[in-house]
Amino acid sequence: MKRNIVLMGFMGVGKTSVGRELALRLKREFVDLDELLEAKLGVSITEFFAAKGEAAFRKLEKEAIRSLAQKRGLVLATGGGAVLDPENVRALREKGVLILLTAEPETIAQRLAGDLSRPLLGPDASVERIGKLLAQREAAYQAAAKVEIATDHLTPDQVAEEIVRCLRTESGT
Ligand code: S3P
Repeated sequence: MKRNIVLMGFMGVGKTSVGRELALRLKREFVDLDELLEAKLGVSITEFFAAKGEAAFRKLEKEAIRSLAQKRGLVLATGGGAVLDPENVRALREKGVLILLTAEPETIAQRLAGDLSRPLLGPDASVERIGKLLAQREAAYQAAAKVEIATDHLTPDQVAEEIVRCLRTESGT
């Protein structure tokens, strides 16, 4: 049975765009966790954060992960905070391989410039703010990851190609 391929990492590393490419290449179903939650909630994540707060969002995120983690053969793009909860990592690992996408704070700041859809960064998506948050999260990201790919100089298509190459050396995908 096919493992789930779970993309994780900080905001702006390209989880959604890489996930789409990867699913096309591998002819698999693609699920973007944030999009799924937004469709369920009927409001954007930014609006939900503003109305109910981060803790309420994390609870819904966790419930969705618990059910998605039981499926097979998905390409799943998680939100940037999803794997900070060890229980989410444990669930995702049961039937999945966790791939960490990384980028330098400068790259992330460039990619997110003018994008107001990240409530944790708000209008201050500066290199400094991104660097600080990334430093707080780095250890958890690294600990969860089976494979790590730096995306700074790659297109989403090239990252997808690299993931396929890495996974070919393993069995089960
Ligand atoms: C978050 C990242 C967002 C979204 C939410 C919280 C985070 O997803 O889940 O705003 O804690 O890093 P992306 O990584 O897809 O932007």
